[in-house]
Amino acid sequence: MTAAIAAIVKGLGGLGYPAEALLSNYSFADVLSPTGETREVALAAFTQTPPSYRTAAFGVAEAGSGGSDLTLLRALGAPMIFAVAGEHVELWQVHASKPASRIAVATIDTLGDLFARNAEHWSPRAIHRAKAIDTEPLADRQFDFVDTGLLIAIEGEVHVKLDALLRETLASVVDVRGRPAMDARLLFQATFRFLAAKILTDRGHESAANWVGGSVDEVLHGIDLYYGLGTIVPSPRDREQLETVWAGIRAGINFRNISADDLAFVYENTFVTSEARAAFGTHSTPRQMAEHIVRRLELWRNADRVRVYEPFTGAGVLLVAALRQLRSALPLEWNDEERHRFLTARLAGDEIDEFACEVAKLSLILADYPNHNGWDIRQADLFADDRLRTRITTDTFVICNPPFEDFDADDRSSPIAQHDVSKPIAVLEEVIAARPAGIGFVLPSSFIVEKRYRKVRALIESRYTSVEIVEIPDDVFSASRTAASLLIARDPRTAADEPRITIRSSEVTLRDRLQFLKAGVITRSRSLTRWVPDTPSGDLWVPALHEIWSYLSDRPRLGDRLELHRGIEWSGLQTGARSREPQPGFEPGLHGVNGHRQFQSPHPVWLDCRPESARGGAYKLPWEQKKLIVNGVRLSRYSWRLAASFDADGLVCSQQFIGAWPKEGVSDKHLLALMAVLNGPVANAFATVFTSDQRYRLTMLRDIPLPNHLPPEIAEMAAAYSERLSQAPLTFDGDAALQRLLAEIDGAVLESYALPVRLERELLRFFEGARRPVAHAWEGWPGLEAAPGLSLAETLDGSGERFSGNWVRSVFEPLPQSEADVLRAYIG
Ligand SMILES: C[S@@+](CC[C@H](N)C(=O)[O-])C[C@H]1O[C@@H](n2cnc3c(N)ncnc32)[C@H](O)[C@@H]1O
Repeated sequence: MTAAIAAIVKGLGGLGYPAEALLSNYSFADVLSPTGETREVALAAFTQTPPSYRTAAFGVAEAGSGGSDLTLLRALGAPMIFAVAGEHVELWQVHASKPASRIAVATIDTLGDLFARNAEHWSPRAIHRAKAIDTEPLADRQFDFVDTGLLIAIEGEVHVKLDALLRETLASVVDVRGRPAMDARLLFQATFRFLAAKILTDRGHESAANWVGGSVDEVLHGIDLYYGLGTIVPSPRDREQLETVWAGIRAGINFRNISADDLAFVYENTFVTSEARAAFGTHSTPRQMAEHIVRRLELWRNADRVRVYEPFTGAGVLLVAALRQLRSALPLEWNDEERHRFLTARLAGDEIDEFACEVAKLSLILADYPNHNGWDIRQADLFADDRLRTRITTDTFVICNPPFEDFDADDRSSPIAQHDVSKPIAVLEEVIAARPAGIGFVLPSSFIVEKRYRKVRALIESRYTSVEIVEIPDDVFSASRTAASLLIARDPRTAADEPRITIRSSEVTLRDRLQFLKAGVITRSRSLTRWVPDTPSGDLWVPALHEIWSYLSDRPRLGDRLELHRGIEWSGLQTGARSREPQPGFEPGLHGVNGHRQFQSPHPVWLDCRPESARGGAYKLPWEQKKLIVNGVRLSRYSWRLAASFDADGLVCSQQFIGAWPKEGVSDKHLLALMAVLNGPVANAFATVFTSDQRYRLTMLRDIPLPNHLPPEIAEMAAAYSERLSQAPLTFDGDAALQRLLAEIDGAVLESYALPVRLERELLRFFEGARRPVAHAWEGWPGLEAAPGLSLAETLDGSGERFSGNWVRSVFEPLPQSEADVLRAYIG
């Protein structure tokens, strides 16, 4: 060790870094490089053991200084690196996405001063807090020398690399659909043992001496011995396949600096996409979803009393997330053994499937490196008796991704099924009845607003003072599930509390789902605090754009002006109800919404209007009259959802459409203007925000707010635009003109709503990047950025020009010097 490094070791020891957390010649995988090659630093200091990128505090690199070299050491995870050349020492800050920057220069003689000056910020505790992105709010951070983006980047890459390693390694023993070519259970058990052996070996653990020869038999036996697990003995054929798996894992990136919980997440996820895993019914919660639930429960606030229980444990993802977050909140001075004792006494789970129980236990063992078993995961049928309730105390946080289906007729005698026929509702009610300290559930998306959940939502409202709901789009679960929601309720209301509740609604949009899965990014959140009425309403969702809806709450509604009805349904096959040629009893009409666009219907076909073919009475509606035709099912999953067209040809419609007839006093002109309203931003945003499935409810459409007054120009503009649309084919210039006309229609419609500009802008931002169902290109409203304080109508009518240039100076002329001096003296 050089004199300079010895001086750094001394300085770090003085700050409280224990000797076992200062490791010389520390090697680690550079997960930020494409191949994950191994790099080395002369010394690495960690805030606690076991060492990993999460706990790395300082690195020390010898020889040449310079930001670009040190950038190669980013994956160590240390926020600061000392570069040492002889007696000369430089301290560099490491960044996520730019070269390292030098923050101090010292010599051996002045190093002591440098440590003394920074003792408060460089202590293990301070750096641990600054890096604890899961458990500490990011606001109010003093530690600007820690780039938290670095940790997020490393974590993301660790998962990518580990996932690739497992997938590539296991590819030789699974078929194209992910089905193992050997007993799935044996493969899973062996894979656990190989991962454990790899991490113990890379970290130089003494137990690695048990498999020094490196054969599969030695590894399986050695790990069984170390963890006290049952012995597995593969057949000669299976052993041959396992040799390949072990060889792959062994040759993979260095595990020394990765955090064992990352390994646990990837391990439990290994078979999630495969049919084998689906057969065991473990539709795993994606890791970031689990992390979000646990983070928002703020388990660390009462770390000394907290208990965490995961019923329907499956592979235990939620428990692993809880373990990770709780562990980083425990006292730094605790050793591995103390933390293990604490955590095994606090975390528990129940699961019916024996194999899933084993996966959960093994995941927890991996996450809790290097400790042994001791995890309280029991095999139990939670619908058989009152076990669920008895596992919960008032200090327990219940985290749960329950089965989503209804109870079968056979299961209806279960005590829990007495609450409700839907399993998630029944489980929620049973859990809430036990009065836990908090609940974090994965639920069907219908939980957010649907009636069948109202009772349980009201129960939550009455019991908890802080409730968050997250709306999760389709395509987030890798297994069979579609859209979902997360419920996080905490801080139970006590008798002394005011009856107030803070509700927070968060959304992950379809566009952001990959960002969510990778880094837990939530697209947007809204929150409000309100009184809880004597009879709780069960309204726990703050809708998107809620300020706009409350601003427009006293406006007339679409249902005041138009009579809305769904189109014809047929008792036979839907395809047999349409024809390209005229037939007796058939009328011209619209069958499918494909090709239906704003202000423009698709080509009509012939629809069966014979009473004997119809289901319901929609064929009797006055289709021959003038009306608007609106799609009755959504056109896309993005924000533009409605397309209304004007029909003067008496078209009939299938149930995929809704007919909208003028009520008394609504003229043709008025009807045209209402078409513009329905195709505009307010109506589309309303339909998007208040619809959770594919089909529109008529009650939702009737509730669309209208302007108090619709000026006659809007009808004229809508007619002119429709006229131009019909002049096919469109040229490029035609496109531009049509875009302009459409923007002007939107501007006029919005002006008639008279929203404050701030709200109007919020509304327009809601459509950013969304495809509009129109017959020409649509690039969004022009000129908004140039004049952020103006309404759309003002932007389009040229007011923007008046406000460009140095208009502030011409409106607010500078004060004469003498007055300015007086004012300056007054302000101080
Ligand atoms: C949707 S999975 C959730 C898995 C896990 N909690 C997660 O978040 O990844 C539901 C789990 O409930 C288990 N399960 C179903 N019925 C059960 C019962 N009656 N008692 C206990 N567990 C049950 C299934 O085996 C499955 O693992």
